[in-house]
Amino acid sequence: MSDIITVIAPVNIAVIKYWGKRDEDLILPLNDSVSATLDTSIMCAKTSVCARADFKEDAIWLNGKKESFDSPRLQNCLGEIKLRAAAEKSVSEDFLQRKVHVCSENNFPTAAGLASSAAGYACLVTALAKLYKVKSDVSSIARLGSGSACRSVYGGFVRWHAGINPNGTDSVATQIVDSTHWPEMHALILVVGDTKKKTSSTVGMRIATQTSELLKHRVKYCVPERTEEIIQAIRQKDFPKFAEITMKDSNQFHAVALDSYPPCVYMTDVSHFIVDLIHKYNTASGSVKVAYTFDAGPNACLYLLKDEVPKVISLIKHVFPTSKPESFITGLSSGEEVLSPALM
Ligand code: ADP
Ligand code: DP6
Ligand code: CO
Repeated sequence: MSDIITVIAPVNIAVIKYWGKRDEDLILPLNDSVSATLDTSIMCAKTSVCARADFKEDAIWLNGKKESFDSPRLQNCLGEIKLRAAAEKSVSEDFLQRKVHVCSENNFPTAAGLASSAAGYACLVTALAKLYKVKSDVSSIARLGSGSACRSVYGGFVRWHAGINPNGTDSVATQIVDSTHWPEMHALILVVGDTKKKTSSTVGMRIATQTSELLKHRVKYCVPERTEEIIQAIRQKDFPKFAEITMKDSNQFHAVALDSYPPCVYMTDVSHFIVDLIHKYNTASGSVKVAYTFDAGPNACLYLLKDEVPKVISLIKHVFPTSKPESFITGLSSGEEVLSPALM
């Protein structure tokens, strides 16, 4: 028999979006990105892993449904963990030969633009690293599962450096500030739609990389400056600056999706209504109090300071008196939860 290892991992929502790869296999991005890692008390992935001599094949269940383990991303993650375990001599040769079973669940919509791939792969590689007693940093292994996952391994605000090396050794995530730096910062998730997106992030950014002229402009002329500016705004706790860059970057990312051929449409009428509502709210407030950002899906993530939370929640309830959009409020994660085994 072997132990079952269970861990949880947080989602992260980017304020400077990663969209486009220069290497599809190593998952190397065209541009740097910046995100905040959200507290696991509301949204998280939970993954259990187990390796046993009597297992006949590697297998994975995602949200209760058996999926193929043949995906190159799963193979790369497991393969890299085993290579590290062999190099670190952390488990026996016999243990390395065993097949592994993985069981993972997200307590929020999967593949709907709420960063399930980020939480999911951060969780998977953290669980595998514990199972194989791998001590070295797993962020770059999480990147092999899903690019955005390399950021979910750390708490607070995180930057993923695109890097320039063809082998990806400098394409790493680093923490900008930890979650204690800006404790007033909160995220309000508005679930507009919970169905699986028509075009996955992987496919959407592949089409953009191949066809969008705007993406080339964004990567060269917009993201580098924005990245430096938003990092400065985060360090100085300059909310209006942080919010303006966040909203502009979300808008430009969705413009790139539309500039792709064929176009990818991730936002819905309700998403656009929320954009409009936030701009009106900020204008009425006399300064920028709330920022919206949308990943590759219809759901909004609002960044706002604690004082604004009750006002914005009552506004949302007033404007959407029925259940949609469902809303979750959360602070930022310290990132430590990812390392603590959870109970089954
Ligand atoms: P999202 O916007 O939710 O990140 P993506 O299109 O980027 O959507 O990725 C969705 C895919 O990520 C899923 O189809 C699945 O392959 C993978 N994924 C999501 N959650 C998990 C998980 N908990 N464990 C392993 N893989 C996951
Ligand atoms: C819009 O990391 O899901 O959420 O690397 O192909 O798995 P793959 O894509 P993924 O893309 C995330 C795109 C985004 C922006 C972001 O998180 O930076
Ligand atoms: Co994703």
